[in-house]
Amino acid sequence: MALKQRTTDYHCHILPGIDDGPKEQDESIEMARLLAKAGYREVYCTPHLIKGMYEVSNEEVLHERDKLQRELEKEGIGIKLLAGREYYLDEFLLDYISKPLLLEGTTSIMIEIPNNTSVDLVKETIFAVKRRGITPLIAHPERCFLLEIAEREPQSAGTLNRWFSRGGAQNNGNKSSNELLRYFKQLGCQFQGNLGSINGQYGGRVKASAQYFEKNGVYTHAGTDAHSPDAVKDILGIR
Ligand SMILES: [Fe+2]
Repeated sequence: MALKQRTTDYHCHILPGIDDGPKEQDESIEMARLLAKAGYREVYCTPHLIKGMYEVSNEEVLHERDKLQRELEKEGIGIKLLAGREYYLDEFLLDYISKPLLLEGTTSIMIEIPNNTSVDLVKETIFAVKRRGITPLIAHPERCFLLEIAEREPQSAGTLNRWFSRGGAQNNGNKSSNELLRYFKQLGCQFQGNLGSINGQYGGRVKASAQYFEKNGVYTHAGTDAHSPDAVKDILGIR
């Protein structure tokens, strides 16, 4: 699918006081108002779950979702809030998903892959998630350097050294592909692109990845990944 705005936002930090999204409910309401104005009808609430940083329970996420939904109804904002989380891929993930909070109405969970992790841990964990009957939806793969396509990078020795020193590139000699991306596809993973990536909000490197994934039909879902009303405005180009 093309990475463009639709009527469902699959990735949004709209719930107040849970992670690094809005602190106050008023900001959450403003985000919903802006999203509705831009044509959205459904918004997945996907607060971070990161051990030691953002650890609220699934029950709290659902409670905050219900509370905000009631406020939106009072305000006459036609957005349906759907539950979810943005799971962080580390050694704690599999414990957390002994009771997973699936993206509502699906068999998927959203997983972000940090850049400072190893390909082996990523592969083992994603495989284990899939074995539990859960579909991994990879959050903003264009921001994950482990999934970069080497072909786009200038072919200088310095670049290649940096590339291999990150430990992420396992291209098996095929510069137009990425072994980890192929592995994910074989497992049946899904891929959520950030709308801000394609318009350069994370810089040229991420934009180039987003363009590559879009051109090659990698994306299955799109989201704003907005954390504030201003971010919604910037990402969607509205005021
Ligand atoms: Fe996010």
